Amino acid sequence: MMNEERVSALTKEMDRLILPYFPKEEGLQKKLFESMNYSFEAGGKRIRPLMMQESYKHLGGDESEIEILDPFFAAMEMIHTYSLIHDDLPAVDNDDYRRGKATNHKVFGETTAIFAGDAMLNLAFETMVEATVKEVDPIWKTKKLEAMNVLAKKAGAYGMLAGQMVDTLCEDKEDTGLEELMFIHEKKTAALIQAPLVMGAIFAGASREKIARMEQVGYLVGISFQIQDDILDCIGNEKKLGKKTGSDAKNDKATYVTIKGLKEAKEDQVRMSKEAEGLLASMQDGPSELIELVDYLISREY
Ligand code: IPE
Ligand code: IPE
Ligand code: MG
Ligand code: MG
Ligand code: MG
Repeated sequence: MMNEERVSALTKEMDRLILPYFPKEEGLQKKLFESMNYSFEAGGKRIRPLMMQESYKHLGGDESEIEILDPFFAAMEMIHTYSLIHDDLPAVDNDDYRRGKATNHKVFGETTAIFAGDAMLNLAFETMVEATVKEVDPIWKTKKLEAMNVLAKKAGAYGMLAGQMVDTLCEDKEDTGLEELMFIHEKKTAALIQAPLVMGAIFAGASREKIARMEQVGYLVGISFQIQDDILDCIGNEKKLGKKTGSDAKNDKATYVTIKGLKEAKEDQVRMSKEAEGLLASMQDGPSELIELVDYLISREY
């Protein structure tokens, strides 16, 4: 059964795999490395690399080869962490707490926080390109290129950054509608959940049809994840969350809760997660930690 203890065990195990990809704190630019590692090591559930791992397993990826994915787990979490450092900046959401600690710019200053985010985004690609250039097996080389292509697109101006842009454009705007909000949620959050699920499927050697179904699962899980984030921003526990609640209200954000109300938000969130679980079950019948993980996220409190 997936519960908080099981998720934190998985998180710990994932930390062990990805921490070696982080920079040594040395050289004249030491402060940059310290700033990067500060946000990275602050914690976080590591849900995205875990989704990549579990998608690979769900679709029958060979477990004896799973360590090939390690640099991609690290790159996934680097891109996510960079998105959080920049999301918290005074020019964006202007938040002071993240992952239970002061935000990056509060500790290192805005200039360094901006560079740390940039460097982390770049390091993600350095890490993936390195792993791909070194690959000698032609099948794995192609899989790695395809996976990188997916993450590049989902993180960029057609993906996460599209959502972040429209999210901030809609601040203080009275009439943000559901259609616009769905665009924001799909891009700013679901894109970076679709990426690892699709990458795991590519690494597993899944059919085009299954890869497309995984992308649909990522859409549903991603929207559901952001609805829960919006709900927790209203009624969550700050200690558990590791970030301050009320950030959306402070910035006059349109959220799933402001548009649909708490009750409908929760109903939609459960419905979308259950639909995702159904799609996952249609792809294999064995026990699946991926289905359990998706189910756990419905009622997550952090
Ligand atoms: C927070 O993501 C940003 C959103 C997309 C809602 P997570 O809730 O996965 O944050 P961490 O990585 O666990 O800190
Ligand atoms: C952030 O959405 C999505 C990102 C791309 C970082 P939020 O702004 O709601 O995330 P939190 O609540 O600060 O974690
Ligand atoms: Mg934001
Ligand atoms: Mg924010
Ligand atoms: Mg939020």
